[in-house]
Parts: sequence; structure tokens; C-alpha cells
Amino acid sequence: MESSSSSSSSTFQIDARLPKEISWGTIEFLQWEGFWYAKPHLAAVMAARSHFKARDEDVILASSMKTGSTWLKAIIPCIINSKTSAAGDGNGDNIDEEEDYDPFVEHHPNDLMPALETQIFRQDPNADLSGMPSPRLLRTHMPYSILPESIKDSACKIVYITRDPKDVFVSLWHFLNTRISCPLHEAFESFCNGVHPFGPFHDHVLGYWKESLKRPEKILFLKYEELKSDPTGQVRKLASFLGRPLVQVDEVDKLVWKCSFERLKNLEINRTGVDPHLGFTYKSYFRVGLVGDWKNHLSAEMRKHLDKITQTKLEGSGLSH
Ligand code: A3P
Repeated sequence: MESSSSSSSSTFQIDARLPKEISWGTIEFLQWEGFWYAKPHLAAVMAARSHFKARDEDVILASSMKTGSTWLKAIIPCIINSKTSAAGDGNGDNIDEEEDYDPFVEHHPNDLMPALETQIFRQDPNADLSGMPSPRLLRTHMPYSILPESIKDSACKIVYITRDPKDVFVSLWHFLNTRISCPLHEAFESFCNGVHPFGPFHDHVLGYWKESLKRPEKILFLKYEELKSDPTGQVRKLASFLGRPLVQVDEVDKLVWKCSFERLKNLEINRTGVDPHLGFTYKSYFRVGLVGDWKNHLSAEMRKHLDKITQTKLEGSGLSH
């Protein structure tokens, strides 16, 4: 494929001919290889794609924005650091003797799974992650087609989460409106046209969905709604997928509580902190945490319009929302 960028040792030059849109108020978006990126993210996406080298032991959390990934940024480290998972000490005898893994009093979940593009390669386009101990827990909003080849080719695991696009849109609108000002109807039109960070949403979802059907051992495809309705079942499934099956009922319950919306939202750090990389308040990552909040924001006409797009886009894919 023809390159739209040229790299030097430290920076990527964005091709000035890339399609451009000003949207969501004043955000400048550029379209590259079929997806839209806020301008400051694109060079970092290109750098991550070129420079990141995955290891077999890595765990990559992939998602479109506002699908509930913060929940998994908490759950995945808890599973990996669980004392009783099969890859831990195996027997769980000492669960009450050792101090429990609970980093959340001091850390927002963002700290536990750093973002490849919006954090690591945005700060340093030549970032070298070779010194980071395994298993490295990382996250990305990059579409499947754009992922670094080493992520696709290595044995590293990808966990993908998606959500009803109506709730995604409402969540995204609230989140971005903590920093910008854009009327709901204007943002809705942009979302429906696929112009939003890492959009179009449906193409993002379909890329990972199709690959997860081909390689279920490589990509676990989760839905926010299922995580809400059966957190213990979904956490067990995720733990088994990561090769760390959780053996103790109590521990699964405790993990689900530790990572619960109610708990995380009310921790001091998340009430008062600010993400040092993107400038969003930590509390903006914990808004209402509900399925179906779109009903409080979208008109019947908007619902019908977005549902129609979803139906058309997902038709024949075996995926429903
Ligand atoms: P709402 O805006 O609908 O409340 P992301 O984490 O991908 O940025 O998505 C953010 C959405 O996930 C927000 O949705 C947020 O409230 C919700 N969320 C964050 N942590 C959660 C948790 N522990 N449990 C359930 N939902 C959570």
C-alpha cells in the first residue's frame, strides 16, 4: 500500500493531502487508511505501527473509545496479578496471608495499561519498550487493520470490547464535552458519518469481530452489556482466555467488586485526579456506567437513524447490537 507518511528517526510527517474535517466543535480530524484520527494522534499511531514490537506474553486491550475499556484496564491487571490464577502459585493456599493486589487507591486504571498511541508513542515516537517486564499490559484504540504486524503475528493476546453504539455516542459526547463544546445534534451527525476519534465505529468493531471469528484463541471479543449482566461469568471467561483461570469463587467476587464502577468512581484519586497525558479529569472516565443511558439523550428519530446504520453495517456479519 502506498505510504501516506514519511518517517525520520524521530517524527512522522503527515501527508498534507490526507482528507481533513473540522468536527465536534473545533477538533481537526485526518483520515488515514479508512479511519479518522484527531490530528495529534495520527503521528503517534504511525509511530506505534512502525516501531512497536509485540512479545508473545503481551496482553493488548483494544477498543473504540467509550466502550467501557476502563473497566477492563482494571480487571485485566487484577487477573494477571491474581495469586490464585493457574499461572500464579496455582493452589491459592495463601490468599489470606499475602496482601491483596489493589493498585486502585493510588492509580487510575489508565496507569495500569498504558496506551500505545495516545500515551507512549505520542510522548516519544521512538519509544523503546524492551525494558518493560513481561507480561506487558498495553492498550490501543487502533483499528485492527492498522495494528503493528508484530501484534497480529505474535502469540500475544488481544482483548476487544464493544458496546451499543448509541451508548458509545452519548458517552463520547459527554467525555469530549468536558474539554470542548459541541451541540449534541452536530456531534451525532459526525458520529453517524464515522467522523470521530478512531472512527467509523462500526468498521472498527467489524475489523476485530471478523478476526476474532477466524482466531478465537488470539482475540477475545467482549460486549459491555454482557460484562454488566454477568460480570463474574465474563471475568472467568477472560481469565481463562488469558491463560490464568481463576479457581476460587471468592476471589472472582472480590475482583469484580474491586473493579466495580461504584468503588472506582468514589475513590479519591478518581474524584480529583487528572490524566497527565490527555488532560481529561479522571472522574470523566466514570460517568454513569449504565446500559441504555442513550434513552436520556437521543430522540426517537436519532435512535432510529443510528440503529439503521448499525443494522446495515453489521448485516451478514453474525454480530448484533
Ligand atoms: P458512560 O459514559 O456511559 O458512563 P472507556 O472506559 O472505554 O473510556 O468508556 C467509558 C465508559 O465506561 C463510561 O460510560 C464509564 O462510565 C464506563 N465505565 C468505566 N468504568 C466502569 C466500570 N468499572 N464499570 C462499568 N462501567 C464503567
